[in-house]
Amino acid sequence: MALWGGRFKGEASVQFKRFNDSLPVDYRMAVQDIVGSIAWAGAINSVGVISDEEHIRLVAALNELKASVEADPEQILLSDAEDIHSWVELQLIEKTGDLGKKLHTGRSRNDQVATDLKLWCKETGGDLLFALVNLQQAMMNLAEREKDTVLPGYTHLQRAQPVTFGHWCLAYVEMFNRDIGRLKDALYRLDVSPLGSGALAGTAYPIDRNALAHSLGFRTATMNSLDAVSDRDHVIELLASASISMMHLSRFAEDLIFYNSGEAGFVEMSDLVSSGSSLMPQKKNPDACELIRGKSGRVFGALTGMLTTMKALALAYNKDMQEDKEGLFDALDTWQECMEMAVLVADGLKVNRSRTLAAAQQGYANATELADYLVGKDIPFREAHHIVGEVVLAAIDKGVPLEDLTISQLKEFSDKIEQDVYQHLSIESTLNKREALGGTSRSQVKKALATTQSGNEAI
Ligand code: ARG
Repeated sequence: MALWGGRFKGEASVQFKRFNDSLPVDYRMAVQDIVGSIAWAGAINSVGVISDEEHIRLVAALNELKASVEADPEQILLSDAEDIHSWVELQLIEKTGDLGKKLHTGRSRNDQVATDLKLWCKETGGDLLFALVNLQQAMMNLAEREKDTVLPGYTHLQRAQPVTFGHWCLAYVEMFNRDIGRLKDALYRLDVSPLGSGALAGTAYPIDRNALAHSLGFRTATMNSLDAVSDRDHVIELLASASISMMHLSRFAEDLIFYNSGEAGFVEMSDLVSSGSSLMPQKKNPDACELIRGKSGRVFGALTGMLTTMKALALAYNKDMQEDKEGLFDALDTWQECMEMAVLVADGLKVNRSRTLAAAQQGYANATELADYLVGKDIPFREAHHIVGEVVLAAIDKGVPLEDLTISQLKEFSDKIEQDVYQHLSIESTLNKREALGGTSRSQVKKALATTQSGNEAI
């Protein structure tokens, strides 16, 4: 049964009804719709639309409904109500008869859906923040475990300079930190209640909208009814936060897929997050990471979809906006699941420390050190760079690393090179020199770990 039959002579077609109904998607906002309805019952009671006694009866019936929905949310899907707002109202009418028909006084599904969705976003946002902090903690645990492990650092996927595995982990800790900030920021901005904006022009009853907002746990109430019912910035901001974070997760996944490859052999993923091939018995595939990388696509898609849906909508509410929830729910579910999976990956990661060390020793990753050594002997950096380029070329020719060239071979390129050069070419010296803020030296990694740890405790 629909809530709006009076103006119609005929029934909607079955096909249109299926096309128009949003219950299969928005039933997830049942609790929020009931909570919003309880607050609205209070608001209309405060302006005399319903008596105190009616108010008590309505709230009791709504609370009963809430308990039943919390126990069995799937029951809603058995109904053919148009959307979750209709479902709640119809249930209420079933429980309280004509009294239930009074609840919608002064309210529209337009301010109702906007309120429900914001309430849902606030609650889900808390779960997402929790998942982000967990993920960050997992990366810090891994950083702590592997803080002394040497790893080749790459640019252009060419071995560039050695770093520590801990430093690599902390790069992701930084990214997740920004994700936390972005999500908190979005949650702060959406914490404004649209309830009492009516269909578009505002409610005709003298309701204290700020008090109503506070009773629902919102920071404040919206200032313009046209904007309030047609604003979906918060959906877009959450999708943008999810997309940026999924981009980080995808890079994390990609790094590990490469580290896990037979060619690199730097890490082995736990059996908990890998699968095999139905044909090739030797295979152990990094599926969890590949799926994290792959699923970023659908989250980006939801963001693009929502921006496109909103971009040419005339004020105020249009039914196009009903399309907001499916993409949002899916994107936030996906984000949450990927974060949890990334924790499993990080926790179970086995690092092959001798392979990472051996790889860091190859590929002339200490060439910058030799240039810096020459700078220390008063050769201008640009000239030092050129000299070392020639040394590297000669070493490649001989098929040896820089430190295997004899002192007389090195002196052919610059007579400033002395015996002490070898200690500068060691990985340890390369790492230890990166002492400035944010560098890969052991002391900086330790400091970064301590700073993030105390930052997280504050969350
Ligand atoms: N189900 C709709 C949505 O999710 C809310 C209903 C608004 N309907 C209306 N006819 N104004 O956006």
